[in-house]
Amino acid sequence: MAIADLGAVLRGAPKVELHIHIEGSLEPEMTFALARRNGITLPYADVAALRAAQQFTDLQSFLDLYYACTAVLRTAEDFQDLMLAYLARAAADGVVRAEIFFDPQVHAERGVAMATVIGGLTAGLREGQRQHGVEGALILCFLRHLSEAEAEQTLQQALPFLDQIAGFGLDSGEAGNPPGKFSRVFAACRALGKPVVAHAGEEGPAAYVRDAIDVLGVQRIDHGIRAIEDPALVQRLAALQMPLTVCPLSNQRLQVSPDLREHPLPQLLAAGVCVTVNSDDPAYFGGYLNANIAAVQAATPLTAHQWLTIISNSFQASLRDDAWKAAWQARLAAHFAEGGMLPAEARSR
Ligand code: HPA
Ligand code: ZN
Repeated sequence: MAIADLGAVLRGAPKVELHIHIEGSLEPEMTFALARRNGITLPYADVAALRAAQQFTDLQSFLDLYYACTAVLRTAEDFQDLMLAYLARAAADGVVRAEIFFDPQVHAERGVAMATVIGGLTAGLREGQRQHGVEGALILCFLRHLSEAEAEQTLQQALPFLDQIAGFGLDSGEAGNPPGKFSRVFAACRALGKPVVAHAGEEGPAAYVRDAIDVLGVQRIDHGIRAIEDPALVQRLAALQMPLTVCPLSNQRLQVSPDLREHPLPQLLAAGVCVTVNSDDPAYFGGYLNANIAAVQAATPLTAHQWLTIISNSFQASLRDDAWKAAWQARLAAHFAEGGMLPAEARSR
């Protein structure tokens, strides 16, 4: 098989998605369907008008629309349907496991209880596993534009559901909301034995990536691309093998990296950083995981060997055990080999 078939090998490869906000998978069609079901009037005439509103100048302009659309999510059934729709799309892209963010504080503001949100999402995970064979895990994200006291209150509300929460994260508006604002609540999460991750270095400076590691004790950085501005930090990320969950179409659409030909992913990869590719908010940014991979490949073509590394990293960076990772990494390498992309052959290209 020739190099021309790399696209097909990538589309069919088994993968892990590590950076997906379930609320960011709310497609305009489903937004209108749920609005009708729940008797909510949207400030958009139709699906086309809502899609047309998906023009973003920065992270906040996106968050404004993203939070507004969550108004249609009311019942456990809504959250279940949302999760199942995402898992169907993920399965079509070869995703075998997804570690999925959710924002309970956004829903609490509208009076939707933690039990409703988690109950619906876990029902969706069970159904997605049954129908599509994708395994999923939930990561509860605290909203960084709110106070640490509010995050601590959210953690209290989550305690009865700890068995259904794989880890904790930090998202929303980054500028002016440094990791250190959440040092105590993250320490509490770690004391509960839960892994923690955080968005850092998306719009915020490289120093926030450093602080997420040193102050919050994260085991993964979401985005992290502005680390490229600090060569010593890039070296440290590589030495630590600290994974970055990079989201190319998100970076493009939020004007973090408007031209994908200049995106730092290849440079971070060359520096030995454990980079992964993910979709962030696919209903808003123009595509799911395979669309992100295709967009990178169109802008800055990488070799089969480089892609094998990136996708293998997604297994390595997951919250699963080493035996599971090794088994899937072997299957992934076999998939590349069967597609004519033997690692040795790929390396020589
Ligand atoms: N950054 C911060 N917060 C978010 C994002 C993001 O890309 N998507 C959803 N919430
Ligand atoms: Zn994100």
